[in-house]
Amino acid sequence: MQNNSTVFVLDKNEQSREIIKSFVSDLEFINEIKLYEDYKKGYEDIKQASSPIVIMDISEELPELQEVAENLKLCTSKIIITSVNYSTNTIIRALRMGAKEFLPKPVLKDDLIRVLTMLASIAPEEENSQSKIITVYSNKGGIGKTTIAINLASELARVTKDKVALVDLNLQLGDISTFLNLNPPFDVNYVIQRLIDKEEQIFIKGFEKYKDTSLYILSDPSYIEQSGSITPQQITELFKALKKVFPYIVIDMSSSIDPLSLKILDASDWILFTTIVNIPAIRNAQRCLNLFHSRKYPPQKVKIIVNRYMENDEIKIEDIENTLGETVYWKIPNNYFTIMEAINKGVSIAEINPESNIGSSFRDFASKVSDDIIEQAVLQYRI
Ligand SMILES: Nc1ncnc2c1ncn2[C@@H]1O[C@H](COP(=O)(O)OP(=O)(O)OP(=O)(O)O)[C@@H](O)[C@H]1O
Ligand SMILES: [Mg+2]
Repeated sequence: MQNNSTVFVLDKNEQSREIIKSFVSDLEFINEIKLYEDYKKGYEDIKQASSPIVIMDISEELPELQEVAENLKLCTSKIIITSVNYSTNTIIRALRMGAKEFLPKPVLKDDLIRVLTMLASIAPEEENSQSKIITVYSNKGGIGKTTIAINLASELARVTKDKVALVDLNLQLGDISTFLNLNPPFDVNYVIQRLIDKEEQIFIKGFEKYKDTSLYILSDPSYIEQSGSITPQQITELFKALKKVFPYIVIDMSSSIDPLSLKILDASDWILFTTIVNIPAIRNAQRCLNLFHSRKYPPQKVKIIVNRYMENDEIKIEDIENTLGETVYWKIPNNYFTIMEAINKGVSIAEINPESNIGSSFRDFASKVSDDIIEQAVLQYRI
């Protein structure tokens, strides 16, 4: 339990603010309680605080609410949202705003103390249970894994405004830094070695922030001989460390099935298993899905993505679904020219042509991924 938390209450209603203050003031693990009618002013103070817990009310539709919520998410994960309205839609909205807990109004003292005790007991170095490792995989090369990982990650950052990590675990032949024209000062190998040395503050410095977005990139080692030294145990450590910092972690990896790849796949929350529409690729997919079944992956862990889809393909989505015995989660259209232009210019597809079929497909794909993750959280919440 941390004994130095400051609670910030952002609420338009004076009576509500005072009630919360009266509930909280005798808790010994709370250092101070600060009340704000002005949400922007509250955010300015929260930014400076070392261990803030935020209680924000969203009962009223305030013009500044969205902006404050987006900024808050980037400075604390300890957010409680309250509202007089407690429909499923309001809870979804609260979770999207980064709420760890939702409390209907009028807030009950016992509920508030339970939630505050829980939040105060989360040490900053503990992993975030809501954070998800999403790995783009195919057991065949050249199928579009890197293209999908980059554009999904950058759209997730744009759509959610959350911190998104994009990690290149294709340790010998990683392409992310080339596709995005990056010249990273550090790489995944450097970060992993520092993790083991417990120099955790170095961890975030290993990432390169992508322009003015909330996307952070960790590149593969520059020299092939450095890649062999990463062990499955180090992957576990890396994932744990990533989950402390990033709500979404997108992994690109090689198509091999070796002990390291299996470790990455086992430790992922979601696998976006990617195929294209042709018989050898689909047959290959079938073999890989059998492997996943034999490893007892839960059904919701593996999502099938069809890349380079064309409406006039002879093989239809239903044919793929019938052959694989699984539904297709998302299909990405074939658009060679837009993708090549993005790669040649070293940028994401949205920076080239967001309204192209493939630009809008990635935007909708990212929205679906974040919606489904939130929905899973709401289901747990409602149980
Ligand atoms: N939807 C698409 N439409 C058209 N071309 C695509 C599409 N997706 C990927 N490509 C092209 O396919 C090629 C391979 O893509 P990419 O490098 O992303 O695959 P990969 O699976 O990561 O390959 P590797 O196994 O070598 O890592 C690239 O030239 C890319 O431009
Ligand atoms: Mg690749």
